[in-house]
Amino acid sequence: MTGGPRDAAGRPPGSGGTAWLPSPPPVPLVTVAGVEDRRIRTGIGELDRVLGGGLVPGSMILVGGEPGVGKSTLLLQTAGALARQGLSILYASGEESLAQVSERGRSLGANAPSLYLAAETSLDAILEGIAALKPAAVVLDSIQTTCDPALGSAAGSLSQVRQVAGRLLEVAKRQEVSIWLIGHVTKEGSLAGPKALEHIVDTVVYFEGDRHQAYRILRASKNRFGPTEEVGVFEMRAGGLVPVENPSALFLAERPVETPGSVVVATVEGTRPILVELQALVTPTGAAMPRRVANGLDFQRVAMLLAVLEKRLHVGLGASDVFLNVAGGLAIREPAADLGVVAAVLSSVRNVPVEACWAFFGEVGLGGEVRRVAQAEKRLQELARLGFTRAITASMGATPTPPGIAIAAVELSHVGELADLMAAAGESRAKMRFD
Ligand code: TYD
Ligand code: MG
Repeated sequence: MTGGPRDAAGRPPGSGGTAWLPSPPPVPLVTVAGVEDRRIRTGIGELDRVLGGGLVPGSMILVGGEPGVGKSTLLLQTAGALARQGLSILYASGEESLAQVSERGRSLGANAPSLYLAAETSLDAILEGIAALKPAAVVLDSIQTTCDPALGSAAGSLSQVRQVAGRLLEVAKRQEVSIWLIGHVTKEGSLAGPKALEHIVDTVVYFEGDRHQAYRILRASKNRFGPTEEVGVFEMRAGGLVPVENPSALFLAERPVETPGSVVVATVEGTRPILVELQALVTPTGAAMPRRVANGLDFQRVAMLLAVLEKRLHVGLGASDVFLNVAGGLAIREPAADLGVVAAVLSSVRNVPVEACWAFFGEVGLGGEVRRVAQAEKRLQELARLGFTRAITASMGATPTPPGIAIAAVELSHVGELADLMAAAGESRAKMRFD
């Protein structure tokens, strides 16, 4: 496949230069339609949300995640949903045979007449397919199995991944085709391929966590056409990925009440408030190096908060293992979870459950001070909607509690007050039992 036509520089057509497509002339700004007018809603609500309201024509989207997490499933469903709107879609799979893809497509209800399949690994063949079909969107499953035969290197190598994405990007921009690139990312660190593309593509969405999680969480880590950190929640069922429109209720569904170490945290992912259960388990250990495990939380942040607990609240953790877990598989990166982490650890250390109607949000500083976080109003609204009556948080300053909301904000300035609050609640509860 190294033969074939060459351009003046001796390169095969399109192998790096832009000579193979005519350059369009500059156009007046006012004549160019904006992005918002042209978005295509896929009809899969949680996906549209992550994209910032729908698919932008001519955009390139990288979809990453561990093998088996649901990338092909989501994209086949998306391709089907777009094709049902009458758009022609090309799904190019280098991973599975035509028979396998079409069988899966049918079982996912993606059998629309304008959905075309190609079992291809050659970029040239895929580009020919795009030229012939002029689809509105193309799915490349996956970037690692597609190769430009003009390059000597193996499929999946860094140079191939860059080359394939680069050439497709040109096509995306000039022909207004939306191109989805599926990229495998493994825990072991074969991040190199897809990671190298993050700066070229318009949007990067990742399936968070692994395929053993109960729910599949899709997060936009970059988006030129919408807010980043926007999260979509899906459940993998026999008929494919099903959007979860009320993730807070789902994440709290199995919450054990009256269990020490379990607290509810009001987080905001992108533009949406989501309530999650945070669990801490602090147990004595004989090990010289106590264990620190933080699932779904930033490890460095947790280490800092444990140090604050030791130094400011004199909670000795040196002879204890500390395990923290965000139930449901969501990864929380915002510092608004700090106060919840401190509360969960305290609750576990003291073996005192936190009141079931309490929830937490607030950043904690090195001095143990509790700081305000953005979008307090949204968090309060979501808490009230799910029946919480006390929001333990930082001083709200001028932010009023939204009108008509039955939730009281308990404003703390230091984590020391949290310890007192929890101790008082524990005492009054114990008193109620003995009365
Ligand atoms: P898949 O989309 O093939 O993952 P990826 O492309 O990210 O590697 O998802 C595969 C998993 O999803 C597989 O374990 C089976 C499961 N699955 C379902 O549970 N229901 C379905 O309808 C489909 C298509 C897959
Ligand atoms: Mg796949």
